[in-house]
Amino acid sequence: MSLRLIANWKLNGSIQFNDQWAEDFFKNFSSLNSESIGIAPAFIYIDHIRKLIGDSGINIGVQNICEEESGARTGEISASMIKDLGCKFSLIGHSERRIFFHESNKTISKKLNLANNNSVMPILCIGESAVENERNDTYDILKFQVEEALKDLFEQSALIIAYEPVWAIGSGKIPNPEEINSVHKMIKDVVQSRFPKIDLKSVLYGGSVNSENASSLFVQEHIDGALVGGASLDGKEFAQIVNIFNEIK
Ligand code: PGA
Repeated sequence: MSLRLIANWKLNGSIQFNDQWAEDFFKNFSSLNSESIGIAPAFIYIDHIRKLIGDSGINIGVQNICEEESGARTGEISASMIKDLGCKFSLIGHSERRIFFHESNKTISKKLNLANNNSVMPILCIGESAVENERNDTYDILKFQVEEALKDLFEQSALIIAYEPVWAIGSGKIPNPEEINSVHKMIKDVVQSRFPKIDLKSVLYGGSVNSENASSLFVQEHIDGALVGGASLDGKEFAQIVNIFNEIK
């Protein structure tokens, strides 16, 4: 099974936080299936997290990579560097990167290719804003984001897509799970019809996922998993979300 449950820690974490998280997670995680789980901490904690998760099989990834492989990009980290550290995946084009760091679809497309070249699984994040949602533009916006990000991808690329409505991130609001299911089906149809050689592994939902709403999401056919922000910062809460997933999927 490919990655299905990803913890996006964003700009959070510390040595003490990480220790507590691992203790809480492993106390509450009730499955042997950990290959579908990924944690994306801040870069500098990768090694610390690796020690904490040991040989549990949980994957470590990152929240971003540079769109260049090497050279004059002060402060950046490349796909080959994270591969070197054993990271298995990278989020790409998260809405916070698009908004605060002005990432364009073109930059995102370059990052997707670099991830693939380095055997790092890219998790392409897409999503509409509140205004676009109110205007009923969701499908058009998502199609545009998918097409722009994938049109320059090398053939046979692999990827995971995370649908994250911008207005649902950190807000406690989520769309109706049936609506999310239809959106995911549309995303799969667009990729399959426009880019038949691309290997789309799964479509995850992200935006205010927690242990209360997880089962209503995971029962939907086309919701293959979740990208979890705030709720993933609590080891117990994230373990509960994973446990719910494993019971349903
Ligand atoms: P949230 O964040 O779960 O806190 O809404 C999700 C994300 O931004 O990936």
